[in-house]
Amino acid sequence: MSSPNYHTNILCILGAIVAIFFILVFFNQTYINTQPFDRKIFTIKCQDRLLQPKETATNLSHLMFVLVGSSRALKNRRTYIESWWRPNVTRGNLFLDVEPSKEFRPWSPTFPPFRISEDIKKLRIYPKLANRVHIRIYRSILETYRLKQDEGVRWYVMGDDDSLFFVDNIVDVLSKYDHTKKHYIGMFSETIKSNYHMSFEMGYGGAGYALSYPLVEALVTKLDECVERYHYIWAGDQLQSACLADLGADFISEKGFHQMDLHGDLSGLLSSHPTAPLLSLHHFEAVKPLFPGMDRPGSVLHIMKAGNVDQSRTLQQSICYIRAKNWTFSVSWGYSVHIYEKIFTRSQLKRPIETFQPWSRGRPPVFMFNTRPVSQDPCEAPHWFFFDSVEQQDERVVTSYTRKFPRNMTSCSLTGNISADLLTSIRVFSPQTPKQGRKVECCDVEYDYEVADVSNIRLRDCRRDEIIA
Ligand SMILES: *[C@@H]1O[C@H](CO)[C@@H](O)[C@H](O)[C@H]1NC(C)=O
Ligand SMILES: *[C@@H]1O[C@H](CO)[C@@H](O)[C@H](O)[C@H]1NC(C)=O
Ligand SMILES: *[C@@H]1O[C@H](CO)[C@@H](O)[C@H](O)[C@H]1NC(C)=O
Ligand SMILES: *[C@@H]1O[C@H](CO)[C@@H](O)[C@H](O)[C@H]1NC(C)=O
Ligand SMILES: *[C@@H]1O[C@H](CO)[C@@H](O)[C@H](O)[C@H]1NC(C)=O
Repeated sequence: MSSPNYHTNILCILGAIVAIFFILVFFNQTYINTQPFDRKIFTIKCQDRLLQPKETATNLSHLMFVLVGSSRALKNRRTYIESWWRPNVTRGNLFLDVEPSKEFRPWSPTFPPFRISEDIKKLRIYPKLANRVHIRIYRSILETYRLKQDEGVRWYVMGDDDSLFFVDNIVDVLSKYDHTKKHYIGMFSETIKSNYHMSFEMGYGGAGYALSYPLVEALVTKLDECVERYHYIWAGDQLQSACLADLGADFISEKGFHQMDLHGDLSGLLSSHPTAPLLSLHHFEAVKPLFPGMDRPGSVLHIMKAGNVDQSRTLQQSICYIRAKNWTFSVSWGYSVHIYEKIFTRSQLKRPIETFQPWSRGRPPVFMFNTRPVSQDPCEAPHWFFFDSVEQQDERVVTSYTRKFPRNMTSCSLTGNISADLLTSIRVFSPQTPKQGRKVECCDVEYDYEVADVSNIRLRDCRRDEIIA
């Protein structure tokens, strides 16, 4: 990514050259003499720009990852870290409780370097701590700071050993914020009860959250003092939100971070992700594998195949129609395609199908977002296709989605009895260029009556007044 300031400077210099050229070649001396005022303004403005310290756009090298885990869990969780960590590119450390076992020696370069957390028994408050494990974890921020590896760092990004990060998107989202100010950016839980009992104003730790460097600097000087003040708080991320609030940093939510305080099958949620860059996924051991017929680590590697090609579109929903058949297509890029045998509006399909269960049982409302029920009605229930492969062609990316199980229903009789059972795979064509910002993309479906089992979808910009309904 190149910086906007860099471009402005180049433009300024080019502008100046062109201006001088014009003045020298086309204007006679008398004309120039009538223009001194304007020229002065031009000179001052440009000098201002050129004299500003060069502030480049935020990139991955400006992020310091502070990851926490336990050596015992490493065996089951290694894929989650390895699937997103970029050796020699991403910066950071994995803080462990004890030395990793022999099977991890020598330490693999595919992992972040590990550190053994300091012994917190030395803390005066130790006997009174509500949760000693979480305090060990929490102090990783301080220990990272003391490593003095922060040259050029703009943000600390905190995460667990089972947090899956989409780092290009994290860079994209953090670039929106001024890293020279104090910022605390994360996301609350999907489950109302978790937020009610802990806080609606906190970035959940497994989802991961980001602290701007000035905030880190302010925090670390008072971190142990804050642990003493809130020694009775059980959860480290809740303690963090309290410490940051007292430093005057209020929580900012970004919808792409996912704590995933849910159980069961996440496919409904992952098929209707908000229009926001996907930043993280978490809690893989509490939910079913992300894709049917795969194991958990395999399903994480699978979703990263798409994510490694285009994170800007990963899980982004686009909706289009074959009106002659009364069919609606809903694409969740890199994850799934749904076909409904009825016309559904975007406002309806934005709501996830409730294929999952809440973190803790209880009476509704349980989720922080609206849902649709799983339906057995052939007019309401989609045909499900899941991400199969991704391919880069000249100017575009092709993702393919296949039917993993039959729908086992009759066709929708209200809208013409036109069954989509014959379709076995869907191809989605998207541009190589990343999706711009936080906009919604539209699409067109091509359905060849000769080749009844495949259909092609092309993503495109929405027209100015396009209604998705
Ligand atoms: C990231 O920005 C720094 C300047 O802060 C620059 O030196 C570096 O080359 C950039 N890295 C990439 C990968 O663009
Ligand atoms: C990382 O950098 C080191 C030293 O520059 C090099 O030896 C190693 O091969 C690199 N690792 C990868 C995975 O690129
Ligand atoms: C349809 O039936 C098959 C075979 O009985 C079963 O494996 C599959 O899960 C069913 N599909 C759905 C969506 O219920
Ligand atoms: C589409 O559905 C409408 C009812 O919603 C129905 O009147 C129309 O005939 C259907 N179109 C086709 C091609 O069957
Ligand atoms: C669909 O089929 C059912 C049963 O075969 C029939 O009652 C209904 O009228 C059909 N609907 C349309 C729109 O053709």
